[in-house]
Amino acid sequence: GSADHTPALVIGSGYGAAVTALRLGEAGIPTLVLEMGRLWDTPGPDGKLFCTTGSPDHRSMWFRTRTEAPLAQFLWLDVVNKDISPYPGVLDRVRFDSMSVYVGRGVGGGSLVNGGMAVVPQRAYFSEMLPNVDAAAMYDRYFPLARRMLGVNTVDPVWFESTEWYRFSRVSRKHAANAGLRTVFVPNVYDFGYMQREAAGQAVRSALAGEVIYGNNHGKRSLDRTYLAAALGTGNVTVETLHRARAVRRQPDGTYVVTADRIDTTGKVVATRDIGCTRLFLGAGSLGSTELLLRARDSGALPDLSEHLGTGWGTNGNVMTARANHIWDTVGANQATMPVMGIDDWSNAANPVFAEIAPLPMGFEHWISLYLAITRNPERGTLYYDAATDAARLRWTPAQSRVSVDAARKLFDRINLRNATIYRYDLFGGNKTFADDFTYHPLGGCVLGRATDDHGRVRGAPGVYVTDGALVPGSIGVNPFLTITALAERNIERVLAEDYAR
Ligand code: FDA
Repeated sequence: GSADHTPALVIGSGYGAAVTALRLGEAGIPTLVLEMGRLWDTPGPDGKLFCTTGSPDHRSMWFRTRTEAPLAQFLWLDVVNKDISPYPGVLDRVRFDSMSVYVGRGVGGGSLVNGGMAVVPQRAYFSEMLPNVDAAAMYDRYFPLARRMLGVNTVDPVWFESTEWYRFSRVSRKHAANAGLRTVFVPNVYDFGYMQREAAGQAVRSALAGEVIYGNNHGKRSLDRTYLAAALGTGNVTVETLHRARAVRRQPDGTYVVTADRIDTTGKVVATRDIGCTRLFLGAGSLGSTELLLRARDSGALPDLSEHLGTGWGTNGNVMTARANHIWDTVGANQATMPVMGIDDWSNAANPVFAEIAPLPMGFEHWISLYLAITRNPERGTLYYDAATDAARLRWTPAQSRVSVDAARKLFDRINLRNATIYRYDLFGGNKTFADDFTYHPLGGCVLGRATDDHGRVRGAPGVYVTDGALVPGSIGVNPFLTITALAERNIERVLAEDYAR
């Protein structure tokens, strides 16, 4: 490769990476960001950046010939998925034996495809999961900072009560209340002012046009508009796209070299670059950062990495389920794609569950209430390096998912009982009532205080840091990106103060 060198190299451009790049750039440190996905700034032939959920095309998924949407079926028919041509699309489904992991690909990572819910975890549970982190500093300083930087806002409660676009949430709230369960408004990074203008016909529809998992063309404050825009604004940060980091090695002088493959839009490797760096910040997400370190350890490049690497991985207890409502309980043909409400039963010590009331915007009345439940699942999987495929694999069994299902079932059985309703059997394949074979919230693999020190410094590789969801030990009880962002803020502040001090 060439003799490129950068003082700071950041791998990935999701939450952890974006925070880190901004703070490095602000400190005057020349920083290069490598992202395997593309930059979503050029409209396609239809004039749109992202394709719509209703008619997905090549832009939808990461090198696939057919889309793999989480809800593949309706009335047992495969009507949702479509054939597409391979392309570096924005959503990826990483398939392991008994668990699929959805992740975003592109400048902005998961922020390009996610539901935008920005939730502060319950403090006691945060401290239980991350006991070595000073919770006071997190709750007084870093969570508020992350919320401000991400542009978190809340739906106008008056509009919420009257708009057709959130009838589905109000119906689910009523059914929860009938079962004695509490619902709460959930903040989001989608601009609700913009959404109200969409509803009024004054702005191009995005959240009100079914857009979310394949990207939002408008309204969403994804990282490319917040942290990453600010990072580029420092003048010290550069982003290279379609660069997939593959290998890390240490030089005799203590600096690092990252080998990255540059791909074209057909997926072909068109160049391989060796990029030297003084410090290396991994923000490739739970799967990506863990895989890079596992490969480095087990190939002998960084043999001193911790034996904890790959452990402490979890699904955040994710499980999806759907209920069939009575004919009089219409949820509406029109549904906003941004969730704004959750059933908060986390303080129920016998069975803690936080269930997002999820939209299912099909464009017609379907009487379905959909939920993404976050359960307190103590099961943990292990990522390990498989030399034959040169990739990380996941040890996770169906029995480990059943723990999430059992917890969710207790809550939704109660809702069904009190409302005389039943589950839907036709949405998840195999007549399943609970989708327990995929997660949106991969967490762990390089757990804080185990594979790294208490600020993300990788054990056994001085000058290498983990910045992302890999630090969180498998569960946080709420949707995780606010926690990932706040932790990254906390960690890089310490690293800049201590490791960069002369
Ligand atoms: P993240 O995954 O965001 O970023 C990693 C980046 O690194 C990606 O851009 C990837 O392409 C890149 N990368 C990986 N390997 C690489 C390599 N080897 N070389 C170069 N680049 C590499 N959370 C939440 O709080 N509220 C919500 O509403 C939702 N909703 C939701 C919906 C859907 C559909 C999904 C898939 C996810 C969510 N999430 C969510 C989860 C949330 O998006 C997720 O927790 C964060 O994006 C994780 O942030 P990280 O910084 O860990 O990595």
